Amino acid sequence: MEASAKTIKSLGVLCSGGDSPGMNPAVRAVVRTAIGLGIDVFGIYRGYSGLLEGNIRKLSLSSVSNIIQRGGTILDSSRCMEFYASEHRQKAAQILSKNHIDGLIIIGGDGSFTGAMCLNQEHGVPVVGIPGTIDNDISGTEYTIGFNTAVQTATNAVDNIRDTASAHERTFLVEVMGHKSSGIALQVGVCTGAEHVVLSNQPVDYEKITNDIAKGVARGKTSSIIIVAEGEKSGLSYEIKDVLLKHYNLSVHVCILGHIQRGGSPTALDRLVASKMGYAAVHAIHQGQQVHVTAFNKGDVEIVPLSMCLGRRNEIVAPQLELIRALAI
Ligand code: F6P
Repeated sequence: MEASAKTIKSLGVLCSGGDSPGMNPAVRAVVRTAIGLGIDVFGIYRGYSGLLEGNIRKLSLSSVSNIIQRGGTILDSSRCMEFYASEHRQKAAQILSKNHIDGLIIIGGDGSFTGAMCLNQEHGVPVVGIPGTIDNDISGTEYTIGFNTAVQTATNAVDNIRDTASAHERTFLVEVMGHKSSGIALQVGVCTGAEHVVLSNQPVDYEKITNDIAKGVARGKTSSIIIVAEGEKSGLSYEIKDVLLKHYNLSVHVCILGHIQRGGSPTALDRLVASKMGYAAVHAIHQGQQVHVTAFNKGDVEIVPLSMCLGRRNEIVAPQLELIRALAI
């Protein structure tokens, strides 16, 4: 399929990978902007899996009414392993063509963008990505939709834990999501006044944890919170708890926040960025951009080549870690 600015008459929009709060405002912005430009919009349900099943419905202005404040995604999402195989991408291109869909907007993370890149390279389908993941870990953009809401949800949860930790003079390990990224852990660490943050895929510094806690207790602290970045699989906190008890004689409680962080009403920031990105994505594809992403850099949305957004971003952890340490003395 070959398309140019002039030939885009209809668009597909899908959400892919882990959902994130803000996907709905993005879908709303895509649909309303496209219809405003005279472009038909088709919702592709359940991500790439739904595309392969032909789970496609035309959307109207009212299809996206009253969703700006809702978490999750009205289009549903999936992690589609089949899409890694070229024969499935060929089938996807045929389904798009059969439905007269000239271009695709993909809301998701780097894995979803890789699928989009292949679809473009192999079949010429114009694609524009909107970064949506709570992990905020995509290269080429400083921000991904959902991160702020996840941080806020986790912050509220840690505040609650702090209350009960103080009442019982306890130490808690609170494990947050983020997969290989420590982004959520670091921001939550700052925002909750955590005593220590365990970073993703880094050795746990047990000596430092026990020293930090002992120092706090000595100066009268009645609770300690250690934020743990989950890393590649959730549950690391239980391993840390066992080591602390066995080798350091330190008893701690564990709370794994889990998927509570992925749900909930998007914050104003996530609604704003999602709305701007949805609007920009449609204009980009309408103006003939073929393989691009709406990125958020230096305070605003810009359009960048999709190739810039395929890998995970190198995390800058030092300044936030230093801040947490400086303020937890
Ligand atoms: O979408 C990102 C994310 O929430 C990660 O933070 C987490 O590690 C992962 O997804 C969990 O995925 P799933 O819901 O498929 O278990």
